[in-house]
Amino acid sequence: MSLAGKGVVVTGAGNGVGKAIATHLAAGGARVVVNDLDADAAGAVAEQIGGHAVPGDAASAPGAEALVRRSWELLGDVEVWFGNAGVERGRTLATSEEDWALSHEVNVMAHVRAARLLVPRWLERGSGRYVVTASAAGLLTLLEGPSYSVTKHGAVAFAEWLSATYRHRGIVVQALCPQGVRTQMLPTGGLQDLLSHDSALTPEEVADTVWEALADDRFFILPHPEVGGYYAARATDTDRWLAGMNKLQRKLDDLAVADPTGGQ
Ligand SMILES: NC(=O)c1ccc[n+]([C@@H]2O[C@H](COP(=O)([O-])OP(=O)(O)OC[C@H]3O[C@@H](n4cnc5c(N)ncnc54)[C@H](O)[C@@H]3O)[C@@H](O)[C@H]2O)c1
Repeated sequence: MSLAGKGVVVTGAGNGVGKAIATHLAAGGARVVVNDLDADAAGAVAEQIGGHAVPGDAASAPGAEALVRRSWELLGDVEVWFGNAGVERGRTLATSEEDWALSHEVNVMAHVRAARLLVPRWLERGSGRYVVTASAAGLLTLLEGPSYSVTKHGAVAFAEWLSATYRHRGIVVQALCPQGVRTQMLPTGGLQDLLSHDSALTPEEVADTVWEALADDRFFILPHPEVGGYYAARATDTDRWLAGMNKLQRKLDDLAVADPTGGQ
C-alpha cells in the first residue's frame, strides 16, 4: 500500500509508539495529523515531521468528533486512522472506578467514536483503513493490569467486529498487539524484569512492523511474533495457559516478599 500523499491521523502521537508511527508514515510520503492530549508534544512531533498538530482528547465524544472534523478540514479526507492513544491505570483489584472508566474511554470508546464518523465516508468511497493499537494484553492477559487487560480485549473485539462487518465493503481493519515497548508506559521492576524487559522493542521497531503490515492487510500486527503462539496456546488449552500465568504470578509474589519496595 503506498501512502504517498494519503491523509492519515495518528492519535497519541506526541510520544512513544504513536510518534514513531507518525514519523515513519511522514517519511513514506503521507500527510499526517499528529494528535495528543499533550499539546506541546503533539506540536513538537508535527513540526519535526512536517505534519499538522491537532492536540486534544481523542477519546471523549466531543474530543473525538472535533479531531475527526479538524482532520477532514486539514487533509481533505482521512484514508487511514491509527487509533493509538492508550492508558494503563491500576495494578490490582483495588483499581478505582475512575481508573476503570478512563481505561474504557481511551482504550475502547475512542475507537467506537472515531469509527462512527469515519466509516460512513469510507463506505461511500469503498475504501478506508482503521488500525487499532491494542496490546498483547488484549489477546492474553497482563498480570498487574486488570483494567488494561479487559479494555484492550475490548479494543481487539471492536476491531474484529469492524472487520467482520465491513471487510467486503473495502474497509481494512488491523490490530497492533505488541508486548513490551520501550516507552514511558513500560514500567520497570517486578513484572517487566521477570517477563519482557529484555524482549522489549523500541517504538521504531514497532513502527517498522506496522509499515510492513500495511502492505498485506493482515488483521493482527504482532511485532513480537511469539504472541501468536501464546494466543493459540490459550485457545487450545486454556487451563494449562492459566496455570502458566499463575506460575508467573507466584514468582512475582515471591519477589514482592523478597523486596517489598519493588526495587524502588
Ligand atoms: N509501551 C508498551 O509496552 C505497550 C505495549 C503494548 C501496547 N501499547 C499501546 O501502545 C499505545 C501507545 O503507548 P506508548 O507505549 O507509546 O505510551 P506513551 O505514554 O509513550 O504514549 C501514549 C500517548 O497517548 C497520549 N494520550 C493518552 N490519552 C490520550 C487521549 N485521550 N487523547 C489523545 N492522546 C492521549 C499520551 O499523552 C501519550 O503521549 C497505547 O495504546 C498502549 O496501550 C504499549
